[in-house]
Amino acid sequence: MSSAFSRALRTSNVSQFHPTTLRTLSRRNAPISLRALSSLSANGGLADIDPSKLQITRTGKPKTLPESSALKFGHTFTDHMLTIPWTQESGWGAPQIQPYGPLAMEPSSTVLHYAQTIFEGMKAYTDPEGRVRMFRPDMNMKRMNTSAHRIALPTFDGVALLELIKELIRMDKHWIPSEPGHSLYVRPTLIGTQKAIGVSPPNEALLFVILSPVGLYYPTGFKPIALYGTTEYVRAAPGGTGAFKLGVNYAPGILPQKHAADKGYAQNLWLHGPEHYLTEVGTMNMFVAFHKEGGGYELVTPPLDGMILPGITRDSVLTLAREHASGAKPVPGLPKDLTISERPVTMSEVKEASESGRLAELFGAGTAAIISPVNRIGYLGEDVHIPVGEDGMGPLSRHIWAELVGRQTGKIPSDWSIVL
Ligand SMILES: Cc1ncc(COP(=O)(O)O)c(C=O)c1O
Repeated sequence: MSSAFSRALRTSNVSQFHPTTLRTLSRRNAPISLRALSSLSANGGLADIDPSKLQITRTGKPKTLPESSALKFGHTFTDHMLTIPWTQESGWGAPQIQPYGPLAMEPSSTVLHYAQTIFEGMKAYTDPEGRVRMFRPDMNMKRMNTSAHRIALPTFDGVALLELIKELIRMDKHWIPSEPGHSLYVRPTLIGTQKAIGVSPPNEALLFVILSPVGLYYPTGFKPIALYGTTEYVRAAPGGTGAFKLGVNYAPGILPQKHAADKGYAQNLWLHGPEHYLTEVGTMNMFVAFHKEGGGYELVTPPLDGMILPGITRDSVLTLAREHASGAKPVPGLPKDLTISERPVTMSEVKEASESGRLAELFGAGTAAIISPVNRIGYLGEDVHIPVGEDGMGPLSRHIWAELVGRQTGKIPSDWSIVL
């Protein structure tokens, strides 16, 4: 066990994200009663996740490391995984790091019937000095707890889970490809494993974390994508679950994605309501930039209205653009005159701006691709054209991307990036 890990063990019972943070979050964001929260929380007197109880079983058959050039997103997994069981009677059990392999589960398990599953996605990188880094993982731990709470799965101490995830990554860090832009994708997942069919909070659950080495999202440079402005299907609705990272939000998007692909578009642009408000792009948040009258740009992203997933990349783009605009932390190359807005945007506004030359660019933002520029939107039978530069990027996204990647990989110092 590394000394950093033992140090962390001594401090990891600081319950930063649970349940105090959830109480604060609930006060600020949602009408969740505190009683409801505490009755759903895992450790109302029960055991929380405890890194000091970690048991490690190393694989006897380490796999051959794949060629980085052959990596396909989400197809290759490392030698080990982390599992932590939970029961209603005792709370969180002993965490285990064990060889990556199948999970044993009864066919009656509630996850298989009622989609009791939530997940997260984050990345670990090697920095120029060869150290392993993660980018704002505390945000993923917070979001995972709000997702768990939303579908009555047990919540947990995010600091403790993060310490265990770090230990798993340290064990398999030789799997992180060393080529620039490559990383280790980290997938924490929590499922309801009650062995009885019934729509209710499960009396058993399993949290597991698997790791997957990934290559460049755009191996041949930035390739702008075409979006299908989807009016036939909805991804999320008011009062629904769009703002949470639940498995149940993704399966219904697969058929619309297939339809978009059949029509020659890479992703769905999810539109909402009769006004056709832009919400998200496939599984990314979205930004649109307009030229302002008299010069400068407005960078717009739809507000977190309960339908949109609060992306960590979205928050990072907003924060660094705001810090730049205020002069607190200028981003090299980013235009000085920049207004940042979280406000609704409709397809008519985007179409009009495209026709009048006011549209500067439109891009998706998420952990997998980081920034995904868009060059056209199929909308009600015609294509709305979006300007893109020769390098595939736009006047804002080019510099935002460079700053984000710099901070993620440790080339640009930032307290968002933590060394394991
Ligand atoms: C629906 C959806 N929106 C947005 C995002 C982007 O979130 P993040 O930046 O945290 O990866 C994701 C990916 O996680 C997603 O699945």
